[in-house]
Amino acid sequence: MTDKLIIFDTTLRDGEQSPGASMTKEEKLRIARQLEKLGVDVIEAGFAAASPGDFDAIHAIAETIKDSTVCSLARASENDVRRAGEAIKPAKRGRIHTFIATSPIHMQHKLRMTEDQVVERAVQAVKWAREYTDDVEFSAEDAVRSEMNFLVRVFDAVIQAGATTLNVPDTVGYSVPALWGERFRELIARVPNSDKVIWSTHCHNDLGMASANSLAAVMNGARQVECTINGLGERAGNASLEEIVMAVKTRRDIFTCDTRIDTTQIVPTSKLVSSITGYPVQPNKAIVGANAFAHESGIHQDGVLKHRETYEIMRAEDVGWSTNKLTLGKLSGRAAFRSRLQELGIVLDGEEALNAAFARFKELADRKSEIFDEDLQSLVSDEFVSQFCEHFRLVAMRAHSETGILPKAQVTLSVGGEEASAEMQGGGPVDATFKAIEQIVHSGTELLLYSVNNITSGTDAQGEVTVRLSKGGRIVNGQGADTDIVVASAKSYLNALNKLHSSGERAHPQV
Ligand code: KIV
Ligand code: ZN
Repeated sequence: MTDKLIIFDTTLRDGEQSPGASMTKEEKLRIARQLEKLGVDVIEAGFAAASPGDFDAIHAIAETIKDSTVCSLARASENDVRRAGEAIKPAKRGRIHTFIATSPIHMQHKLRMTEDQVVERAVQAVKWAREYTDDVEFSAEDAVRSEMNFLVRVFDAVIQAGATTLNVPDTVGYSVPALWGERFRELIARVPNSDKVIWSTHCHNDLGMASANSLAAVMNGARQVECTINGLGERAGNASLEEIVMAVKTRRDIFTCDTRIDTTQIVPTSKLVSSITGYPVQPNKAIVGANAFAHESGIHQDGVLKHRETYEIMRAEDVGWSTNKLTLGKLSGRAAFRSRLQELGIVLDGEEALNAAFARFKELADRKSEIFDEDLQSLVSDEFVSQFCEHFRLVAMRAHSETGILPKAQVTLSVGGEEASAEMQGGGPVDATFKAIEQIVHSGTELLLYSVNNITSGTDAQGEVTVRLSKGGRIVNGQGADTDIVVASAKSYLNALNKLHSSGERAHPQV
């Protein structure tokens, strides 16, 4: 008998708490659609009380998604819970996830509340949430450093108030697998009516053990794992969805549960999240890293050729690694373009957006003979960028570099509809380009990160550039792709400036 393991994806909420990973409503919708296709059970779509923008994104996801439960986070306050309740209202299946800290250190220094007050507030929050939905999750924040007797008391009280899922977070990534498993065993044994609820684990990766701890919880009765694509999340991130799902699938001999994830969608989802958030995936990352299925040593290669299972415990194609799929070329028409986008699950908003994306495709096909699925994904990302937030737009640019001469760049931008140009020298063509942009916009931002990745292989591949800018405590990532990496760099810089320009202030759930 195998139990169902509920996969609760929090890429759009905890994942978005990674520095610079904030996403627009349209970007969140694209990820939510892909998560639905991947087969996640619950999508934590955000924290509704954070800002009107966050509320709108959750509401739009709740309207769109049919096959996954859509959830909003809420602190244990009446305003938060009611905002969450309103945001998930259109959902076919909606959940409110409310939380309060239960550890002495958080109660004393952060909340300045007594144990009695915390229990009372937790119970009240669950009751407010039950006014909107029967599916209410309660989390005891910093459960890892909470006293067992108090945890038992809080969980008992919230079950009586109507919570249906109890989440036990290792908020600070402090636990180790043996202790985390033990914590679940004891909670499930001691909390009255523990068999009437789903026990959930939410682990952070500060000591690199988020996935191992989550799996230890599963071995001791947890039947929901909270995780993110690529392990994105606050600080060192959360448990990786791909690691949890593939561990359970690959080690059926030790896990007595299974998920409903379509594992062939794992790599496409990882790529989408990476390209939208600007967080590259390290090459040696389990499952989704570029080297995860690459055999370097001659002995290993020989073994795999003779009998694949000598060195492979999973098959690359089972997690969605296909060799780059050649899809379209210069002569492909609009119908073929539209149909490939549909096959990739990409929905463009109306004929105008499709026409604009098709024009970009033709332009790219003039420079690059083979167009792969990855190129289409990035092309469409550009389309989303231009549709929704182009206060700053690249009109034209020219960069010059020559041995022995200081590189220079000329840039013409449209800023709020007005064109302006500048020419600057720099240490390299990218430096000169960024200086020319700054000469026009005077953004006052600090560049925290600059990185280039190739989208597909070959020297004619598109380069995907990520920049991270910071201003007044706010951090954003920008992306841009082009076969010319200096142009890609300019696009990514402008994308980041546009995000800073358009996004307003937001509250952080755990502050
Ligand atoms: O890490 C944490 O404790 C959280 C809670 C809000 C569940 O993200
Ligand atoms: Zn968390």
